[in-house]
This record gives sequence, structure tokens and C-alpha cells, in this order.
Amino acid sequence: MASELYHKEKTLVMRSRLIGQSCRLFFPHDPIKILKARGQYLYDENGMEYLDCISNVQHVGHCHPVVTQAATSQMELLNTNTRFLHDNIVTYAARLSATLPDKICVFYFVNSGSEANDLALRLARQYTQNEDVIVLEHAYHGHLTSLIDISPYKFQKLGGQKEWVHVAPLPDTYRGMYRENHPNPAQAYADSVKSLVDQVQGKGRKIAAFFAESLPSVGGQIILPHGYCTKVAEYVRAAGGVYVADEVQTGFGRVGSHFWAFQLQGKDFCPDIVTMGKPMGNGHPLACVATTEDIARSFTDNGVEYFNTFGGNPVSCAVGLAVLDVIEKEDLSGNATRVGGYLKECLKKLQEKHAMIGEVRGIGLFLGFEMVKDKSERTPATLEAAHLVKKLKDERICISTDGPWESVIKFKPPMCFSMEDADRVAKTIDKILSEMSTE
Ligand SMILES: Cc1ncc(COP(=O)(O)O)c(C=O)c1O
Repeated sequence: MASELYHKEKTLVMRSRLIGQSCRLFFPHDPIKILKARGQYLYDENGMEYLDCISNVQHVGHCHPVVTQAATSQMELLNTNTRFLHDNIVTYAARLSATLPDKICVFYFVNSGSEANDLALRLARQYTQNEDVIVLEHAYHGHLTSLIDISPYKFQKLGGQKEWVHVAPLPDTYRGMYRENHPNPAQAYADSVKSLVDQVQGKGRKIAAFFAESLPSVGGQIILPHGYCTKVAEYVRAAGGVYVADEVQTGFGRVGSHFWAFQLQGKDFCPDIVTMGKPMGNGHPLACVATTEDIARSFTDNGVEYFNTFGGNPVSCAVGLAVLDVIEKEDLSGNATRVGGYLKECLKKLQEKHAMIGEVRGIGLFLGFEMVKDKSERTPATLEAAHLVKKLKDERICISTDGPWESVIKFKPPMCFSMEDADRVAKTIDKILSEMSTE
């Protein structure tokens, strides 16, 4: 086991003193100190093993040897910036291009999902010459000033919606304004975007972009109704704007059946800009914006160079290529379909058994379930969800909550999650919920 520099208590004291307190810890009342990780397992300072259902960033598994070897080899050889010609960046862009529709064929490499979304905003505004942005309720698109402005999840707590930001209803068929019994929720929710576009235009303002996660995660692991994105893109483009698909959490095969979650909407839907991040570098800071030739050209035509010191460097691209290799060689998308499908089935059985599970949803290894106080009213069971997370941690399973009421238990494990892991999680949840119902 890797050694620790300080006892856990000292690390905690130093962290409280030296690190900004708005940087929060998982399980704040009893944080875990992790010294080593492999695959989907984390090991604490005593060598205790935890099953990781949280780390979507370590997509192909913690410390995957193919990825660490690619990084080490390239670091030993060369690391520069993108002003020198190098094969890694072009090879990597070509590999990403092959996963995307033909229209999305120009790439900008950056260092975080936030940088990617900030650049997407600049591209959209430059191309459309418009300013306004439509986002979904509870959305989160990053921590930069520009992105706090378009993240209701954050700006609502900070008390300010900018006049150029407009919030559309979250297409949540469990809790939203149009539910599973609506004959056409996709059209109804898309119509709500159309009305918003009309209102914005009525005020003499113009839409630059519609930003949405292809599956809203902070919103609570929401599956957008089929056909919604195609309709929204039609309305937004008719108003002069572009469609930005935020794939920072959902891309790289997590949904199993497709490489990108926006592809769940069908072949007739293609965004104008795609942003990606978290899983791309398996923990190495690597993110990207992909867009059309026309949008890229308008950005070039403003005459201002785009330079990003670290974005797209040879080491980052070597890491990105290794991640793609592992996804392919280990058939991790197939694993997401098989294991995610099995876990979803197990959770659905638990839903029949336990009054506290209101809905199970998701696809591949992007899953969640709603904890409710009662199934008919669907009252969010926030405290119960927190209790379940705490109890799971006692059983050495790391998991988190999300959604507007923190009542959604969220699964986004490394993609090497196994059937045995799924069984263990389902059995443990069953045991804890049974105990909770008799307490
Ligand atoms: C959907 C989405 N977009 C963007 C971001 C920002 O990414 P980063 O933290 O890499 O800046 C996040 C981060 O949680 C995210 O979940």
C-alpha cells in the first residue's frame, strides 16, 4: 500500500486550514482518504477497499496501465504546445472525428469541461453575432464566470439571472410539467422552448445558443424524451442560434448503445457544437470542443488567434488516444450496456419491493433512482437519500446524490464495473432499504 505523509486527522486539519472551504469533500462528516485505486476500486490508508460508483472521470478504470504507460512514454519524450507541429493532436482529432457525425469535424483542445463550454459560448456568439442563451432548469455547465451565468444550479443560489440568459423547463417526465402519461412530452417540452424563443425575440433580443447536457445529470439523471432535441434544434436555428450539446459527463460510450448521448435522439439529430471533458483523459485534464467548418471559420475570421497553453499538448493527446484504445479493446460500451442493463433490472425489482424507490431511469452506466416519501405524491426523500448514501459508505460502496432535491441516487462508475459489482450494490441497497423501512 502506498504510504501516507500524514495521519488522516492531520491531513484533515491541514486541508481545513489551507484549502478553500467551498471546495467540498465527499462524506464531509467522515471523509475517506484514498491512497490508491485500480479499476473500479479505491483503497484507503488502511488498505480498506471501496467500490466506486462515483468516478465517471476515471472512465476506463483508475490508473489503467495502458493510459499511465502512454502518458509516461510521451512525457519522457516530449511535451510542447500546439504551436509546434505534432502527430498526436492530428491523430487524436481524426479518431474523435470518426465517432461524430461528418458535419462535426473541427476540434479545439482545452483543459476542462468549463473551458470547453466557455469556448463553445464564444464560438456560438461569434458565428451568430447574437448574445442570448437558453439553458435548462437546474443545469450546470461549469465554474467559470461565463458558465455560472448559464448554470441555474449555481446562479439561483447566487441571486442573479443575467438578462441574456433564459431558462427552459427541464424535460423531466417524472417530476416535470409534462409527465409519462402525456401523449407527446418531447413535442410539449420542445414547444416550451419555442415559446421562450418567441418571448426573447418579442423583447428585441436574439438567441446565440441553446445549451443542454444530452442527458441532464445534475438535474437528476434525466433522459430527454425522444425527438426533443431535433425539435429544439429546429426552433433555435430558425431563431438564428446554434445547438450546443454538453457531453462532458455523458460522452465516450457511457450510455452503451452509442458513443455520444445525443445520438440517442436518432440519426436526424446533430448538434452544431459538442463539448466534452471528464472521461476524455481518464483523470488527466483533457477536454475539447468539436464543431462545424462554418462555425470554426467564423471564429478564425475574427482575426484573433486562439492559443491555449496546455490544451492539445502531445502528452494529453497520447492519453486521449490510449483512452480510446482501451474503450475499443475492452469493449467498454458493450460492458456499459450489459452491466448497466442488468443493474437497472435489479433496481427495477427493488422499486417493486420498496416504497422509497419512485422511479429507476437511465441507460448504460448512466443510471439513477428517485427516492420518494410516497409514490403517489412523489415527494422527494432528501434525508432518506442522504441516509442511504451514508449507509452504503459504511458498507464500503461510494455513491452520490443529485437532482434539485438531492433525492436521486446516481450511478456513474468507471466503465469496467462488473456484474458482481452490480449484484453487490443491488443487494446492499435492498438490505439497507429494508432496515430503513422498519426503523
Ligand atoms: C455537464 C457538465 N458540464 C461542464 C462541467 C465542467 O467541467 P469541469 O469541472 O471539468 O470544468 C461539468 C462538471 O461537473 C459538468 O458536469
